[in-house]
Amino acid sequence: MKKMLMINGSPRSGGNSAEILKTIAENVKKGYECEIIDLGKLNISHCRGCMSCKKTQKCCIEDGMTALYEKIQNADAIAIATPVYFAAETGLLKNFIDRLYALMDRGAKGYEVRSGRPKKGIIAITCGAPDGNMVYAGMMSRLTGILKTFGANDITSGIIPASPAGIKDSPFMKDLMGAVGSQMSS
Ligand SMILES: Cc1cc2nc3c(=O)[nH]c(=O)nc-3n(C[C@H](O)[C@H](O)[C@H](O)COP(=O)(O)O)c2cc1C
Repeated sequence: MKKMLMINGSPRSGGNSAEILKTIAENVKKGYECEIIDLGKLNISHCRGCMSCKKTQKCCIEDGMTALYEKIQNADAIAIATPVYFAAETGLLKNFIDRLYALMDRGAKGYEVRSGRPKKGIIAITCGAPDGNMVYAGMMSRLTGILKTFGANDITSGIIPASPAGIKDSPFMKDLMGAVGSQMSS
């Protein structure tokens, strides 16, 4: 079965981002074996900018990120969910993203990325602002660009504002699940 790696950027392992990822996993279970990684449960240091990975093709920091490089390379799909923290992704997710620099090599024609086979991608952002689907479009576009860099050539995205009734029945959630269903069945 194909593999979907799911990255939860929230420190709340039972929060809205987790709910979104669990719902995606349920929707794609016929085609994908899903693994949810709660970044909040791992100890992932910030990138030190030492550039040693440009010489060794490997990050010199051994921590919670180390095992994730291979999982990323072996994934057929990557789903990322993050809450908005002050108009950006969480620090947990930013550390994860910065550490992906170890998969980028400087080649003659620019950067070459060791991200394994081409992947499908999903990005879900959850926020407190009810109009977050408009306000955070720029943030989504930046995260989409990053996921493309790491091998996702077919990306579905959705911004889902938190709701007092829970996000499971939110129309934004339903739209995202509809889009994911068509993306993953094609
Ligand atoms: C530190 C912090 C900063 C936040 N900043 C924003 C923000 O700038 N804009 C926004 O719409 N919501 C903001 N929120 C609300 C969260 O994005 C929102 O509650 C989200 O659904 C939480 O997702 P989670 O349950 O997966 O952690 C913030 C929440 C926290 C804890």
